Amino acid sequence: MITDKQLKALWADFFTKHGFKQIQNSSLIPENDPTVLFTTAGMHPLVPYLLGESHPAGKKLFDVQRCIRTGDIDDVGDYNHNTFFEMLGNWFLGSCPKDEMIRLSYEFLTSKDYLGLDPKRLSVTVFEGDEIAPRDEVTAKTWQECGILKENIYFNSKEDNWWGLGSGIGPCGPDTEMFYDSGKEKCSPTCRPGCHCGKYNEIWNDVFMQYKVENVGEKAKLLDNPNIDTGMGVERTVCVLNGAKSSYDVGIFKDVIDFMDSKAELKNTDETVRSYRILADHLRSSIFILGDEKAITPSNIGQGYILRRFIRRSVNHARKIGLDTKYFADIADLYINYYLDDYEILAKNRELIKRELEIEVEKFAKAIEQGYKEFEKVINGIERHKQFAKEGEIVENIISGKAAFRLFDTFGFPIELTEEIAKERGYKVDREGYNEAYKAHQEESRTASAGTFKGGLADSSYENAKLHTATHIMLAGLKKMFGNQVVQKGSNITPERLRFDFNLDHKMTENEIKTLEDFVNNVIEQKIDVTCEELTLEEAKASGAHGIFDSKYGDKVKVYFIGDVDRQICGGPHAKNTGDLHHFKIIKEESSSSGIRRIKAILD
Ligand code: SER
Repeated sequence: MITDKQLKALWADFFTKHGFKQIQNSSLIPENDPTVLFTTAGMHPLVPYLLGESHPAGKKLFDVQRCIRTGDIDDVGDYNHNTFFEMLGNWFLGSCPKDEMIRLSYEFLTSKDYLGLDPKRLSVTVFEGDEIAPRDEVTAKTWQECGILKENIYFNSKEDNWWGLGSGIGPCGPDTEMFYDSGKEKCSPTCRPGCHCGKYNEIWNDVFMQYKVENVGEKAKLLDNPNIDTGMGVERTVCVLNGAKSSYDVGIFKDVIDFMDSKAELKNTDETVRSYRILADHLRSSIFILGDEKAITPSNIGQGYILRRFIRRSVNHARKIGLDTKYFADIADLYINYYLDDYEILAKNRELIKRELEIEVEKFAKAIEQGYKEFEKVINGIERHKQFAKEGEIVENIISGKAAFRLFDTFGFPIELTEEIAKERGYKVDREGYNEAYKAHQEESRTASAGTFKGGLADSSYENAKLHTATHIMLAGLKKMFGNQVVQKGSNITPERLRFDFNLDHKMTENEIKTLEDFVNNVIEQKIDVTCEELTLEEAKASGAHGIFDSKYGDKVKVYFIGDVDRQICGGPHAKNTGDLHHFKIIKEESSSSGIRRIKAILD
């Protein structure tokens, strides 16, 4: 039995031995990147560096990064999909020594000191080439030299062997994926790595990030400084290493599922296993989001909405297996206790996590109550229709897809629940109509979110850099006005505006807003050069820089100086000169949460 903790330790040991530096596990909420709600891969916090910014910890890095992916949420409940997971990653920044990386991958996977996997059971996929990037012969040849059997090397098109961010913009490139054969029979003669039957399990992905896409729909262009980005999912790999059927059968998931099994009315069987897994998965994700440094709580937008969905879906599945939601608090404790070595923040936020879970469960219970009332209205409508039906008109006991979707969308009534109570009353639900309404809604939200991607990856455009610099100046102004205890509580930048959260005990008056604007505009008018130095943490402190001083591993940090106005530890990028900012204007000052104010501002 090898645990996730052991795997993480082996990873750290291996890459340290090979001259890589460990970097921090960052928040689940990306800084200054409007293109995604959550950190979706280990490379996410590294985007600016993959695009050419220099990283203070050097050019060879590794980490363990917490991630959330919701794209596959409907697959959660099968044997290996999780919304929250940890990803092991390592990077070469500014160079792309493919053969070196492949040899490292092979050693880590097969060496008895590390994973000790049987080379004969390893297979790999390689990019077959297209009009942008050539067929990756170097990679295939190196795998073969290492000891991968020729028949276990498969070439694939862009669809399978090209990696980039979900938004379609940012650094990207061909990749090579590594699979371990579970020993199962092939499910069909065409079964090969990438097939989801459970024979070939993907464990690692080496991405050769030699390209970047600047705007949605544009072709990839060569990056001046190519990189290598690799990622290994902790849960999946632990599952494979233990020869387990599912990642839910090992480690903390198993403990949580056993606990639920001991409390629920319906035991964990083939019929109920999906609900058990969804619960284990969604509650873990909820706990990590609630306990995050960025302190997200359930709401109807952004990350808060995803969190709400996780919790409400958990409640539904708890109902299905007859598990009292009061046990959510115990499950939270199980997870927090398990993860607190690596995530102290969870222990620190333990009470908050449990309280917010409880509040949301209660809110959902109320919404469901209203939903029942609405359901009655729908039924009454149909009955009335029957009463006043024209001659020959047949009114069936069918709840329309639209009505069912409204129950879901507005009242949080899951379709299964609607069907269940409809059946009790002798009604059916038009499931097809519901699916159509659901799809139409998904299309709409997809178009809406695609809109937010327009304008390119935040970090790469100069518009964003300017707004980022404005954020620094503004914080300096806030500190001047209200004291040094004012700190950043959150920041989000799109090409159009900045959004900044900070602690302050009152709503800013009109006068204060004007004073702050004047302060920033004054700094803009002075046309001050923005400079950057890489300093040790001690030097940074001595220079009077503020910012986050918790960088455990990197001995050097980047400090951005705006003359005497501000010096801050920060990854960048920034404007070159404050004069480039032109003119600063606050468009909104509002409450973000208790004790936290939010400013939205633009440069015009
Ligand atoms: N970014 C790549 C992935 O997520 C490798 O880390 O697979």
